[in-house]
Amino acid sequence: MTAAVDVRALVRPDRVHHRVYTDPAVFELEIKRLFERTWIYAGHESELPEPGDYIRRTVGRRDIIVARTDSGGLAAFGNRCAHRGAAMVGVARGHVRNFECPYHGWAYGRDGKLVGVPLAGGYPPDFDLEDRRWSLAAVAAVASYRGFIFVRVAGEGPPLATYLGPVADALDNMVDRAPGGRLIQAGGRFRQVYNGNWKLILENSLDLLHPPYVHRSSYPTAAAWEADNPGKPVDQLVQQIKANNISMRQWDELGVFGLPFGHAYMGGFYKDSKIGAERTDAPYLAYKAALIARHGSAKAEAILALDRFNTVIYPNVVLNVHFLQLRFAHPVAVDRTVLETYCFKMEGAPEAMHRASVRCLTALNAPSSMIAQDDHAVFAQTQRGVANVGADGWVDFSRGAGAEGADAGRRKGIGTSELPFRNQFQAWLGYLAAE
Ligand code: FES
Ligand SMILES: [Fe+2]
Repeated sequence: MTAAVDVRALVRPDRVHHRVYTDPAVFELEIKRLFERTWIYAGHESELPEPGDYIRRTVGRRDIIVARTDSGGLAAFGNRCAHRGAAMVGVARGHVRNFECPYHGWAYGRDGKLVGVPLAGGYPPDFDLEDRRWSLAAVAAVASYRGFIFVRVAGEGPPLATYLGPVADALDNMVDRAPGGRLIQAGGRFRQVYNGNWKLILENSLDLLHPPYVHRSSYPTAAAWEADNPGKPVDQLVQQIKANNISMRQWDELGVFGLPFGHAYMGGFYKDSKIGAERTDAPYLAYKAALIARHGSAKAEAILALDRFNTVIYPNVVLNVHFLQLRFAHPVAVDRTVLETYCFKMEGAPEAMHRASVRCLTALNAPSSMIAQDDHAVFAQTQRGVANVGADGWVDFSRGAGAEGADAGRRKGIGTSELPFRNQFQAWLGYLAAE
């Protein structure tokens, strides 16, 4: 069925055919040729600090275990016993001495290698524990970039650092912000489902044309908070929500940037008049002092100067470096996506800094938040609308197409340019068209 899809016919430089959002055959191809063939974020090293700790993730259609081995490294394998195929673990995260199959008790080491079978004498004489066919099947590659773990389920490809390329600076910056040099995933996590295609969240995260419309209801709430709290310092979260009401000219000044492999980011608005002055509250000043103590003043200032809102690591991660927030999307069906969202605690920073990250996570992305729910509602509405045409319906991405520039090897557009989506679909076609 999937072989019949001519993906090249679905993508033009400035528009895509609606089937990329609606056709289950296209979706199957995305799973095989994109999600199971490139680097996909699997989790953070702080989720599995000790040998024997593991996390379980779905990548494409594959149920994967990433484990901390006895030597402190990482191993990743399918959640499937080599005997008769039972799933080895049933929870999202845990700790084992060995992985023991719940069905007939075959035991595997933390690196996935078979170490023991009950009643071994009943198997054929040439049954050999050392034979790799009896190991839990390793995925093609697992690697960590500064604590962020990615896996490639199958196929060949560039090393992780090459794949990330210039977008790695967002991960670097998140880690460098920690005075102790390390991030710890903490503060809970949200898992939500929206009724729309997985690509909608990637597009939305870099879409500066939508906030004044989709998030129209949020800024009066933030303004009301300010009115109700005269004289109280307005924190960055309130400022950020109020910023949904900035002018189109101000949105355009932020800029959007396209990178190789479909990665992209938007400029930031933390430092100038769009969102208020830099923070001067006591926890922030204590944090900044700790960062200066570690790096010296010049480097600390440079770290804090990276002024950026969302960064997208293609195909499914959205980062906010300021609030140490990470979201990732898992495609379930052509019109259904699971979104997982959490934030990180900076080692060596005052507890109040982490509370601010959790507050931002909750206010912007919780199931009852002012922002994410409006986005998810518009995803469902878009999903209903895109296919509501004759056979030849197209979705337009032409805004800003004639006014693209380049900046240090990055495609650059004005804030409301649809450049990130053109850039994403160029990468998408590269994956989907590859046999
Ligand atoms: S299926 Fe795992 S031991 Fe039999
Ligand atoms: Fe939004």
